[in-house]
Amino acid sequence: MLERYRQLYKEQFQTFLEYMDKPLKKALRVNTLKTSHVKIGEVLEKKGFSFAPVGDGVGFEINNGPYAISSIPEHLYGHFYIQGVAEMSIAPQLKCEKGDAIWDMCAAPGGKTTHISQLVKNTGMILATDVSSQKLQALRNNVARLGCTNTLIVKADARDINLPLKFDKIMLDAPCTGSGIVRKDPSRKSSRTMEDITFMSSLQKGLLEKAVSSVKHGGKVLYSTCSLEPEENEMVINWAIDSLPVKLLPLDRGAMSPAFTSPFGKKLNDEIALCGRIHPHVADSNGMFMALIKKTGTS
Ligand SMILES: C[S@@+](CC[C@H](N)C(=O)[O-])C[C@H]1O[C@@H](n2cnc3c(N)ncnc32)[C@H](O)[C@@H]1O
Repeated sequence: MLERYRQLYKEQFQTFLEYMDKPLKKALRVNTLKTSHVKIGEVLEKKGFSFAPVGDGVGFEINNGPYAISSIPEHLYGHFYIQGVAEMSIAPQLKCEKGDAIWDMCAAPGGKTTHISQLVKNTGMILATDVSSQKLQALRNNVARLGCTNTLIVKADARDINLPLKFDKIMLDAPCTGSGIVRKDPSRKSSRTMEDITFMSSLQKGLLEKAVSSVKHGGKVLYSTCSLEPEENEMVINWAIDSLPVKLLPLDRGAMSPAFTSPFGKKLNDEIALCGRIHPHVADSNGMFMALIKKTGTS
C-alpha cells in the first residue's frame, strides 16, 4: 500500500504520510432545520469551547473544550451532527432542490441523508436505504434526532430496489475500503488488502449501474467514497463513462484537488479531470473522492 501511495503522491508522499498520522480535529454541522449557525456559536462559547467556523457557515471545527461535544444537550436535541469538514462538503454538490425525489442508496448512519434533508428544507422525499441492520438503527436515530420528516428509511441491498418511479437526484456514498479515514479510524491502516479493493470496486460498479438506471433522464448522481484507491474512485467512474449513458458535470471546487487522470500510469478518459479529491495532507482532513454524474440516456 505504501508503494502505491508513493506512486500516487510522488513528491508529496512524505507530507501525505505525516498527515495520515496526525489526529483529526472534531467538527460539527449545524442542523438548520432546528437552529442556526449563530445560536450554536453562542452555545459553544458559553460552554467554554474554542472553535472556528468552517464551510461558509455550514459548521464549526472544535479546537478544544471542557468535555466531548457529543455530551452537550444541543447534540441530543438534534441541533447539530458531528461530521468531518471534508464529509460536510459532499452533499451540497448534488444541488438538491425543494420538492426533489431523492434516493440516498447507502445511507447509514445518515450524515448525508440528514444534510440533504436540511438542504431541501424537509420538502420532497428522500428514500434512505442501507443493507446493514445494525447501522440502520443509527440512521433511524439520527433522522429522528435531527427532525428529518421527509425521509423514508428502508433496509435493503440497494441493488435489489425496483420502483415504478425514477429519482431527480441520487446520492451514492459507496461502501469502500475506507483508506481515506485512517486519521479517524487508525485500524483501517493495516486491515485492508488488494482483494478488498477489488471486491469493493465490483460492488461499487454494481451500485453505480443501479443508480444510473434509477435516476431520471437528465437527473444527477453524486458518487463519493472515503477511499484513497483509484480502483474505487477514478477507475469506477472511467468504467461508468465507457459503459453507461452518462457524462460528468463539474463540481464546486472549493478546497478540492483534481482527481488522478493517469493513476499508476494508466491513462483514463479526459472527463475524469472533472472528478475531485480532498487530500488529507492538502485540506488537513480525511481523504475523499467525488464525481457528479448526469444521466444522458433513458434506459
Ligand atoms: C460510506 S458508508 C455510508 C455513510 C453515509 N452515507 C453517511 O454519510 O453517514 C457505506 C454504507 O453502505 C452500506 N452498504 C454496503 N453495501 C450496500 C448495499 N449493497 N446496499 C445498500 N447499502 C450498502 C453499508 O452498510 C454502509 O452503511
